[in-house]
Amino acid sequence: MAETWAILGRAIHAPAAVETLPRALIIITGDGKIGTVDPSVSPQDTRLRAFRSAGRLIELAEDQVLLPGLVDLHVHAPQFPQLGTALDRPLAEWLQTHTFPLERRYADLAFAESVYQRLVDTLLAHGTTTALYFSTIHLPATQRLAEICLARGQRALVGRVAMDHLEQCPDDYRDASAETAIADTRALIDFIRAMPGNDAGLVRPAVTPRFVPACTDELLAGLGALAREAGCHVQTHCSESDWAHHHVKARCGCSDAEALDRAGLLGRRSVLAHANFIGPADAARIRLRGAAVAHCPLSNIYFAGAVFPLRVMLAEGLRIGLGSDIAGGASASLFEAARQAVACSRMLESGTNPALPAARRGVPGSRVDFRTAFRLATAGGGEARDLPIGLFRPGYAFDAVMLQSGLPDGQVVFAPEDEGETVLERIVMGGGRGDIAAVWVAGRLVRARGG
Ligand code: GUN
Ligand code: FE
Repeated sequence: MAETWAILGRAIHAPAAVETLPRALIIITGDGKIGTVDPSVSPQDTRLRAFRSAGRLIELAEDQVLLPGLVDLHVHAPQFPQLGTALDRPLAEWLQTHTFPLERRYADLAFAESVYQRLVDTLLAHGTTTALYFSTIHLPATQRLAEICLARGQRALVGRVAMDHLEQCPDDYRDASAETAIADTRALIDFIRAMPGNDAGLVRPAVTPRFVPACTDELLAGLGALAREAGCHVQTHCSESDWAHHHVKARCGCSDAEALDRAGLLGRRSVLAHANFIGPADAARIRLRGAAVAHCPLSNIYFAGAVFPLRVMLAEGLRIGLGSDIAGGASASLFEAARQAVACSRMLESGTNPALPAARRGVPGSRVDFRTAFRLATAGGGEARDLPIGLFRPGYAFDAVMLQSGLPDGQVVFAPEDEGETVLERIVMGGGRGDIAAVWVAGRLVRARGG
């Protein structure tokens, strides 16, 4: 086991409200977890001398700040090559004519490997220390994705996509049957749990029905039973667009959330992407089951034609984090998703049609600010995943990003005398990959600027 080490400097996190630890000493134990956190140590603290003389203290400079690593709750790994394209098409057409033909190509393991390596490296460079990945229907390529995450040191949930519905899935990209989809999902769970070097569960499996329209009732029920039996996470899409929402209503006679619940797919370890069109009964059901929502604001602009009522759903007590939804969203940066969450909430609040009088244009009380967006991108994601990540707190994993003011490729500039909240505001509203100097996952340095 690695040795205990420590990091000293300004740190900001969001247990509930945003909290600045002005001169934090965080001690990281050999298992990559946080042992202790002192928010403001004195320069005379004897532990500093001990760690320093042992060469086991990282001291942040005045122009550096530490944040919890970012948690991206919704990434389609195979869609990375189409980032930014065809977003002018409606969801159903985008899937059939652009996305499924691309995903089919992951039968080719060499292609899969080259895309997945580039994606995992890119996300780590953006400060995404945890990602929830949908892959494709291909078991070998999905296994490779899990191995790449483990080798690169990224915390991940990895799911082999299940989709067997004859009408919604093309002949050349569909599970042969519910039975084979369930068997392959089980094989992935076993594979990931047995990966050498994965004893601490850095990479975990997720049962991944694509969305209700793409899955038969038999498949949904089988996956629900498997998730319960294996005790693993579930990820899927929920009421993303008018089309998807109404399609499920027509087929199942109920909402997505209810259909998922009937199949046993709605539990404390379930993450529902989008959830734009859930009603009050759905929200109550999701809260009751303890499931979480991955809010994907950028993708919602293109495919949902609606803004997720984030503020209302937070007030309802739902557990919510952020997702990039690569490639429904055209950015790999979770800081961009955070900005979009703020911007979309403002559009919902003010409304968008200038032909209407201001008083009738929007939905009052909808806005969130950078503090909420930051919380969703870190602690919120951790809560949604039901794991101790996203905070600087004893017992939590040390997953962190260090940002630095004034880097040559960066955008963020802050001064040592700036308040923590001001620094955070600049970072959330303007920051990105170029501002990140170092990234740690489970206490391991996985990315250093220039490295
Ligand atoms: N619904 C079903 N599949 C997908 C997908 O790949 N992306 C998005 N955004 N929505 C989906
Ligand atoms: Fe998606």
